[in-house]
Amino acid sequence: MATILQYWFLAMLASGLLGLAPAQARDSASELPPIIDYEERFLPVVARQGMVVGPERLASEVGLQILQQGGNAVDAAVATGFALAVTYPRAGNLGGGGFMLIHLAEGNRQTFIDYRETAPAAAHRELFLDENGAIDGQRTYFSHQSAGVPGTVAGLLYAQDKYGSMSRAKVLAPAIALAEKGFPVSFSLNYEIDARGQRLRQNPEALRLFFKADGSVYDIGEIWRQPDLAGTLRRIARNGREGFYEGEVAKHIVAEMAAGGGLITARDLAQYRAVEREPVRGAFGDYEVVSAPPPSSGGIHILQILNILEGYDLAEMGHNSAAYLHHLTEAMKFAFADRSEYLGDPDFIDVPVQQLIDKRYAARLRQQIRPDEAIPSAAIAPGRELHHESTDTTHYSVADRHGNVVSNTYTLNFSFGSGIAVPGTGMLLNNEMGDFAANPGHPDMFGLVQGERNSVAGGKRPLSSMSPTIVLRDGRPWLATGSPGGSRIITTVAQTLLNAMVFDMNVATAGISARVHHQWLPDNLLVEQGISPDTIRLLRGMGHELEVSNRTIGRTQSIMLQNGWLYGATDTRRPGGWVAGY
Ligand code: DON
Repeated sequence: MATILQYWFLAMLASGLLGLAPAQARDSASELPPIIDYEERFLPVVARQGMVVGPERLASEVGLQILQQGGNAVDAAVATGFALAVTYPRAGNLGGGGFMLIHLAEGNRQTFIDYRETAPAAAHRELFLDENGAIDGQRTYFSHQSAGVPGTVAGLLYAQDKYGSMSRAKVLAPAIALAEKGFPVSFSLNYEIDARGQRLRQNPEALRLFFKADGSVYDIGEIWRQPDLAGTLRRIARNGREGFYEGEVAKHIVAEMAAGGGLITARDLAQYRAVEREPVRGAFGDYEVVSAPPPSSGGIHILQILNILEGYDLAEMGHNSAAYLHHLTEAMKFAFADRSEYLGDPDFIDVPVQQLIDKRYAARLRQQIRPDEAIPSAAIAPGRELHHESTDTTHYSVADRHGNVVSNTYTLNFSFGSGIAVPGTGMLLNNEMGDFAANPGHPDMFGLVQGERNSVAGGKRPLSSMSPTIVLRDGRPWLATGSPGGSRIITTVAQTLLNAMVFDMNVATAGISARVHHQWLPDNLLVEQGISPDTIRLLRGMGHELEVSNRTIGRTQSIMLQNGWLYGATDTRRPGGWVAGY
């Protein structure tokens, strides 16, 4: 019998059946998965045949339903991706882009689908500079020119067509139904729309789509319908990529660009293509880490951080000890210093991938790390001033009973993108153009410094940090994870992997443990709540500029595959996440 095993352990406790398998989940206690360890602080959800872990309940359940109907992990991932565009509008999208990393059981191999947005052909290097040569933040992030040519529809359909097993109509049907019939607004959705209310209300179409007629936010439990979005999804179901990149939807996008001074043309849309690439991969101890290649910086820098840290006995230092966090921070600084220089769209520039993930290079960097003294970022490269961020992206992970695994991260960039909606389509525009180096060598809104290789050019993909990752153990998928968080994605995923690989944490604990983040510039170490004051004192004593914040770093959605079981965990840093399994 199919069951969602959410809060499985708590249910066992409540029913006084501790130590026995719950009747609806397993037939006999002998089948209990080995994860049942009553000492664990955070329990993953356990399932056997298939699982979807994502940021929103209805979309996770859509993926589960597809798995139960016989679809594979790619079918479920595509269905979940389209459903999130309906139920999770802050980051789920048709108007954005992302990356899908797939492990294919057949052939035991991995592949990567890059559906990152591209700059419209008319974009150019000085696009986001004002007359004084400074970055125009409004134009970069909140204008029609902020939008790259959307890649999500092309990417999801490419995956479906090549690696899915069901029809396009079937995987799109749940999303269409959710948009058309509507669904009850959750606490999280109500909160998220309210939190972005000011920005969304500035755009008349976003105001119409996301708010009630009197301009108020839909209450928790009220039904929210999106008929225009249902129409767009139906066109995609009927006509495939042409249903979005040509015809009515394309006309609406182009008309909105003309009305708002945007750059995307009919030709830009018609020419958009998702690209299948080789993921980056590297070894860490007994594990193989497979992750996102350029135009993401994520995989390279995760591997670089792991390579540097491989030279230390991290387990001996102890999880989140001052010694561990010190070495981790130094590794992060080296990685981000390189990011600012070498990374960009590999179709436009040369990225020295192999040199950056070379273990000998990591060994040379390691030699510069002092055991108990922070290297000032300025000593790694010239320092520059800082800035701040505000963000959203989303990740989900899927596993099926055949052994296929999907790790997918996609985004509109900021929460609800630029806040500009396209009349007639029900969808928001991304502000991904802000991920280019608008002014190479100067910090962006994430405080991130990026180089000439990531300057704006027509047709180019902006550099990303999104890092859908799959770790293999003994050559088989062991952990799928990823996160939102802009530049913090890289450090979030690196720490989640280290927690699992080095500190032997279960998937829930690995995702929820307190994290830190350093991105070379600004030269400060962001520390989440949960790192002890004693540790913080020791780190300050080593010279780390530390900022302890009640703001969180990243939000993982992970699946661990072990002993024939699936263990899922949604990071509790943000509300609403859901593990659906059977
Ligand atoms: O591609 C990137 O790296 C960014 N556009 C991601 C933005 C992001 O993660 C915001 N999420 N919290």
